[in-house]
Amino acid sequence: MAGDERAGADVPVFEARRLTRTFRRSGTGGRVIARALDGVDLSVRAGQRLGIVGESGSGKSTLIRVLDALLPPSSGEVLFRGRRIDDASASRLGDLRSSVQMVFQDPRSSLDPRMRVGDIVTEPLRSPLLRGRADIPRDHRERLHEVLAQVDLEADAADHYPHEFSGGERQRIAIARAIAPRPDVLIADEAVSALDVSVRAHVLNLFAELVRGGGLTLVFVSHDLAVVRHVCDSVAVMRGGRIVESGPIERVYGRPEQEYTRTLLASVPRLRVRPARGGHDEMGASDAGSPA
Ligand SMILES: Nc1ncnc2c1ncn2[C@@H]1O[C@H](COP(=O)(O)OP(=O)(O)O)[C@@H](O)[C@H]1O
Ligand SMILES: [Mg+2]
Repeated sequence: MAGDERAGADVPVFEARRLTRTFRRSGTGGRVIARALDGVDLSVRAGQRLGIVGESGSGKSTLIRVLDALLPPSSGEVLFRGRRIDDASASRLGDLRSSVQMVFQDPRSSLDPRMRVGDIVTEPLRSPLLRGRADIPRDHRERLHEVLAQVDLEADAADHYPHEFSGGERQRIAIARAIAPRPDVLIADEAVSALDVSVRAHVLNLFAELVRGGGLTLVFVSHDLAVVRHVCDSVAVMRGGRIVESGPIERVYGRPEQEYTRTLLASVPRLRVRPARGGHDEMGASDAGSPA
C-alpha cells in the first residue's frame, strides 16, 4: 500500500455531487432523449464494497462511466480522492487511470481477439510506448502467472487466444487483466450477468475472494440483488437517474424504506427462501435478514 494512504484515509475515494447527465438527439442542441442521471450524490469510502442496483435503464452504467471519467457529466461534480475529475486535465486523470480498473459485462468486446491472453493480461502493466511490441518482461510474467492462478486458470492459458475459452473463462481473463496492476479500486458493470448460473457462482466467488482482505474498494453494478449481496457491504438503489435509497446491505435488504426497493427484492426469490447457513451454497447466500 502507498505511504500516503494514512493522510487520505478519511477522504472518500469517489464523491459525486448533484450529478446530472442527459443524452440528446445528435449534438448538444438536440432534444433531450434521456435523463440518465438526475441529481446523484454519492460517496465511496476506501475499502467499501458498494453495490449499485436498479432496474434496466435506471442510470447505473452512466453513473460509473461518469465516475471513471469515461463520460462527462452534464452538471455536478465528481471527485476522485478529493480532487475534481469532471473538469479534469490529463495529469489528474493519471491517478484515476492508474488506480481504477474496470470489468464489463461482455468480455468478448473487452478482450482484443488478436492478442494472446498473456499480452492482454499484462498490457495494463506496460508503459504505453512498449504496448503491443516488446516481449513480456520477466517481472510481468511472474505477475501474469500469479493473477492467472488467482482466477483459477492454468499458466498455459497465457499462450492462447480469447476465442479458445468459454464465456466464464473469458470473464476470468478480464478479471485477471483488471487486477494485474494491483488497482486500489475495481469497478464492475454487470460483470457476471451474461454468465450461466453455475459459472456465475464461480466468478462471483472470485470477486468475493478479491475483496476479502479489505484493501480493495469495489463498486459493483448489477440488476441482480442476490449477486450484489454476495460481494458487497453496502448498496445504492437507483431509479430514473436517482439514488432512491442507500445504506448497509443488511439494513436495505432487511428493512427497505422504499416500495421500489421492496419490489426489486421481491423479484429475487432465492434471497427469501434460503435458510441461514455458514457454508457456501450456490450464491454463498445467507439469510436476507427478513425471510417472509
Ligand atoms: N449513449 C446514449 N445515448 C442515448 N441514451 C442513452 C445513452 N446511454 C444511456 N442512455 C439512456 O440513459 C438511461 C440510463 O441508461 P444506463 O445508464 O445504461 O442504465 P442501466 O445501466 O441502469 O441499465 C437509459 O434511458 C438509456 O437509454
Ligand atoms: Mg447498464
